[in-house]
Amino acid sequence: MKPLSNPFVIGKYVDKDYFCDRNKESELLVHHIVNGRNVAIMSERRLGKTGLIEHVFSNYLPDEYETFLIDIYTCKNLREMVYLLANEVFKKISKRQPLIERLLRIVRSLKATISYDAVTGQPELGLGLGEIHQPEVTLDEILEYLETSDKVCVVAVDEFQKVTSFEEGNVEALLRTKIQHLKNTQFIFAGSERHLLEGIFSDPVRPFYNSVVFMHLLPIDQGEYIRFCLHLFARYGKTVSEMLVSRLYDCFQGITWYLQLSMNEAFTMAERGGHVDEEAYGQILNHMVDSKRFTFEDRYASLTEKQKAVLQAIAAEFPRQPVLTSHEFIAKYHLKTASSIQTAVKGLTDKGILSDHHGTKRPTDLLFMLWLKNF
Ligand SMILES: Nc1ncnc2c1ncn2[C@@H]1O[C@H](COP(=O)(O)OP(=O)(O)O)[C@@H](O)[C@H]1O
Ligand SMILES: [Mg+2]
Repeated sequence: MKPLSNPFVIGKYVDKDYFCDRNKESELLVHHIVNGRNVAIMSERRLGKTGLIEHVFSNYLPDEYETFLIDIYTCKNLREMVYLLANEVFKKISKRQPLIERLLRIVRSLKATISYDAVTGQPELGLGLGEIHQPEVTLDEILEYLETSDKVCVVAVDEFQKVTSFEEGNVEALLRTKIQHLKNTQFIFAGSERHLLEGIFSDPVRPFYNSVVFMHLLPIDQGEYIRFCLHLFARYGKTVSEMLVSRLYDCFQGITWYLQLSMNEAFTMAERGGHVDEEAYGQILNHMVDSKRFTFEDRYASLTEKQKAVLQAIAAEFPRQPVLTSHEFIAKYHLKTASSIQTAVKGLTDKGILSDHHGTKRPTDLLFMLWLKNF
């Protein structure tokens, strides 16, 4: 692989060389998989669940496993989910002609059109959403295909909490019934919306109760992340201040996405042979916030005066997280009453600006907090 021009990758999994740590988590996930357990991976957004799954799929599983990953965040119903799964399965086997033939024998509900590339002779499958007329039947057939595969199949369903809002309404029960007797196919369910996932897997009256082991993903260890950054800079003949990485880690509370974004920016600030020192901190934050200035202005303008006041106060304290209804907080920022704060907080939560975090509220978008703090 050609080296990337910037080794701090955002939004996709490239290769283990650009992936920080997660060794223990990877080993644990593999341990669950090889012992035949279905797993639910939870954490707040942007910490690295999807990345972990891809990392494990690419590097940790022995050859006798075949892996599939679908993200159902945009799916509104079972049909769309089955469509994604069918496509993923096709994609994975598209280079192996005998497998395609076997698939088409089993998955009869899809009159998938095979065409052959004129130059390479590679078969290509064209499957449209409209071709899935009976999602349940197609799902059964795909699962049958996986069950009779010569490899153990692992299917990861990302943003799994979406099934709770599918149009059909009974999808949990349906999926649970279909997967509970599978012998050759295992599942990883991942998602960020903790209360929805807890509801699916921990509520005794729901179908998926007790059917998975949980993994709660935490932020990457600060020391590991610093080492990772120093190492990547060094590989490109650059150096970076440890203190700088450490401050960025604290500012973004170890949330991987922000860390990667800030280090991607830091990396651009030195030529080969150069050094990025702690002084760069403010400039990096400015750049990150700048690119979203218009969005933030609009978002702020859409708030009520009370919401603005409470949010300004939260931002002024950031990254400290005060108790929002405490006397100190109310007095320090001349807010009115605890109950008026609660109303504002509810409004801010409904707008997605604050989110629940272990029983407290915290800002969903840390860059928005930085914007509010400084401008
Ligand atoms: N261990 C890691 N090392 C480097 N980058 C990572 C790591 N884990 C995640 N990322 C990056 O951080 C961002 C958020 O990770 P993602 O897996 O999408 O989080 P989640 O699925 O929990 O929302 C992505 O841009 C991803 O590429
Ligand atoms: Mg994800």
